[in-house]
This record gives sequence, structure tokens and C-alpha cells, in this order.
Amino acid sequence: MRDAREVVAGAVVRQGHLLLARRTWPVALAGRWELPGGGVDEGETPVAALARELEEELGLTVRVDEQLGADVGLPGGRVLRARWAELVEGEPQLREHSAVRWVDAHGLVSADLVPADRAWTAELAARLA
Ligand code: CDP
Repeated sequence: MRDAREVVAGAVVRQGHLLLARRTWPVALAGRWELPGGGVDEGETPVAALARELEEELGLTVRVDEQLGADVGLPGGRVLRARWAELVEGEPQLREHSAVRWVDAHGLVSADLVPADRAWTAELAARLA
């Protein structure tokens, strides 16, 4: 496992619905829903990292857009950032997650999100409304 200082997550919206993915690990986060993403490798830009992670984990080709919301501090001094991502091609495949779903604003608000991702709920819900 990489110990990236920076983690980037993607808000992929299709037909008014946001892609959520259900984590399988660590235990504390297993079963909870996230904006999919992962750690930025050394020498990699956050934009490239997000495109790579969404391809590796879900088989999606995306075009990464601007940042959404604020930076979120993670345990261990890491920072989590989210970016909008436009789906170019692909249907989500479960390579690391146990499930995915596309949610509207109501589904987002009622989803059991990983704690850090709660920071973006209001901005995401406004976009989906
Ligand atoms: O895939 P990789 O190991 O690079 O990263 P990850 O396990 O997906 O994300 C690293 C850490 O960032 C996770 O253990 C979570 O604590 C956090 N994370 C989060 O809180 N919310 C997300 N949407 C994505 C990651």
C-alpha cells in the first residue's frame, strides 16, 4: 500500500446522478460509500492520479475537471481533495469496491459516506438538485 501524502477523489456525474463506490477496507471504512480515487504517486499530478485510479479501480476513462469543495485533512497528516470528472467511456467494474451506485441528491444525503467525504455533501447535492 502506498502512503501518499495527497489523496484525490473523483465526482463523476452522469445524467444527474453521482457515482458512489463502496469500500472494502480498511475495516473502519469497509461498507461505507466514497467518491472513488486514491493516492497521488510521487512525480504525478493530482489530475493524472485521479484518471489513473478511476481506470485501475473501476475501468473508467474520465476527463478530470476542476476541484470541488475544500481540502480535507486525513489522519496521518494526509490531505484529501476532490475534483469533478467527466465520464468519457466505460461502465464501472468492481475491481476494488464491493458495489457502486449512481445517486441523486436525496440518495447522496442519505448514503453512509466515509467521514471525510461528508465535507462535500452540500456542494455535490446542489449540483445534483
Ligand atoms: O487506492 P489507494 O490505496 O491509493 O487509496 P485509497 O485507499 O482509496 O485512499 C487512501 C485513504 O484516503 C483511505 O484510506 C481513506 O482514508 C481516504 N479516502 C477518503 O477518505 N475518501 C475518499 N473518497 C478516498 C479516500
